[in-house]
Formats: sequence, C-alpha cells, structure tokens
Amino acid sequence: MDLKLSDRVALVSGGSRGIGKGIARALAGEGCRVAICARTKADLDAAAREIGDATGAQVLAVPVDLTDRSAAQRLVDRALEVFGGVDILVNSVGGNRRKPFEQTTDEDWDELLQLNLLASLRLTRCVIPAMKERGGGSVIFIASIWGREAGGPNLSLYHATKSAMISAAKIMALELAPAGIRVNSVAPGSVRFPGGSWDRRVQDDPEGMAKFVRDSMPLGRFGTADEVANLVVFLASDRASLITGACIPVDGGQGKSII
Ligand SMILES: NC(=O)c1ccc[n+]([C@@H]2O[C@H](COP(=O)([O-])OP(=O)(O)OC[C@H]3O[C@@H](n4cnc5c(N)ncnc54)[C@H](OP(=O)(O)O)[C@@H]3O)[C@@H](O)[C@H]2O)c1
Repeated sequence: MDLKLSDRVALVSGGSRGIGKGIARALAGEGCRVAICARTKADLDAAAREIGDATGAQVLAVPVDLTDRSAAQRLVDRALEVFGGVDILVNSVGGNRRKPFEQTTDEDWDELLQLNLLASLRLTRCVIPAMKERGGGSVIFIASIWGREAGGPNLSLYHATKSAMISAAKIMALELAPAGIRVNSVAPGSVRFPGGSWDRRVQDDPEGMAKFVRDSMPLGRFGTADEVANLVVFLASDRASLITGACIPVDGGQGKSII
C-alpha cells in the first residue's frame, strides 16, 4: 500500500532510541523528512545518521529537554527553518516511574506530569499553527494500554499521566477536525528493544519475565518498536482519513479492554 507520505515533514519527540526511533525510521522509510529530538546529543546524532543512512531521508536532530518550557517552540522553529512546515507530529517522549501511591511525592508527580503529559501537550500546541498553515496534519500520542485500563499496583504516576494524555487527545480531535488536523493515540503493550526497560527487566529476572510473558502476552512474546511504528505510519497517512479521536492498542492481545 502506498501511504503517499513522500516529502511530508514529520516531527518525532524522543526519537533517539526505542519506540520513537522505530517510528522515525519507519516514517523516513516512507519518504518523510523527519526531525527527531532527545536530550542526549551524541545518541540523537547517531540515531539521525543511522536513519538517514538506512533510508536516504533527510533527518534533522534537535537536542532539547522537552520538560524545559521553552524547548518545544525552539524545536518547532528549527524544523520550520529547515523543512518549511510540519505535517505529522508523533509525541513519543515519556517514561515510567514505579512506586506505591502512598510513597509518591509532589516532586514525583511534577516530574511525570511534565515528562508524560505537559511536554507533549506543549509541543502539540506549538505545532498546530504550522499544521493549519498546511491545511491539515496528523498528531499521534504514544500513550499505553496502561492509560486505557488498569495495569496494577505501583503504576499510579504512569496511569494518571497516560490516561490524561488519551483524554486530552480526544478533545483536541474534536476541536481540530475543522482545521483538517486528525489527533489519535496509540496504546502499546509491553515493547522490548535492546537497552529498553523491558529488556533490562528480562536481563535482571529472566524467569519472572518468562512467566510474565506466559501469563500476560497471548502471542507469547513482547512487542517490537517496528510493530508500533507500523500503526503510527498508517495513522500519519491520508489512508487513515476517517480516523480521529481514536485510541488504538498495539499490544498482541495484552490489554483486556473490550473497547
Ligand atoms: N517500551 C514499552 O514497553 C512501552 C509501552 C507502552 C508505552 N510506551 C511509551 O512509548 C514511549 C517511548 O517509550 P520507550 O520505551 O521507547 O522509551 P525510552 O527507551 O526511555 O526512550 C525515550 C526517548 O525519549 C527521550 N527523552 C526522555 N526524556 C526526554 C526529555 N525530557 N526531553 C526530550 N527527550 C527525552 C530519550 O532520550 P534522552 O534520554 O537522551 O533524552 C529517548 O529518545 C513513552 O512515552 C512510553 O511511555 C512504552
């Protein structure tokens, strides 16, 4: 299927490794020009080189910390300067902090609200005027199945921020439909890649994680970044022209929600 993404401009936050990097590579592979950001410049530059070499696409690396309030606008300005517009935004930046709710502090909540919610909302606000100028666009939030349904104890920080992201995306979809901007969330299940959090847990506790996979993953394995990227690339394209305000799981059946 030709997704007709050639020469579209995509911005992927958290694109130096893991799911974000997989998404940036997949969009570049479809012919997009791609801007990626992360805090660690060396990793980001290496990812941009790797993606550019593999796909032949132009990849712009912009090192920023998106929890810094001024960073989102700097990132968008740089993408506009180099590419002249933005058509696709993928908000992949985020992380997990596990601890019992009773032990969470205001600092924990401030940190995860910034990282998992406000960084992506702010970046989306900065991109909307550029998308309106192009006559439309596609915004995709990388949420989690654990923003759609309960994942278990110790996850209050993660759950609250990811479910807030999904609900904000739904309202944005309603507000931005007249401008031709579609807004969707993607909810991955447990995704393993070298050096990622699930990979570290498998190294630390191979038996426990083998049991987790047997008990929780109907397909009998973790997901991959490329499998999340395949859905994102489709949602970014005009082939998904009727899909907005959706939250779509990509989890190998791990989630238990019937909607
Ligand atoms: N892996 C999973 O199983 C899974 C499942 C469901 C949902 N998700 C979601 O998918 C997204 C990506 O997950 P992942 O596992 O690929 O994460 P990851 O391996 O931790 O990668 C996070 C990316 O974001 C960047 N980043 C982190 N903090 C940043 C900041 N303050 N400003 C700018 N960039 C920042 C990181 O680079 P630097 O550290 O250099 O900044 C890196 O490029 C997250 O939102 C996560 O919650 C993951």
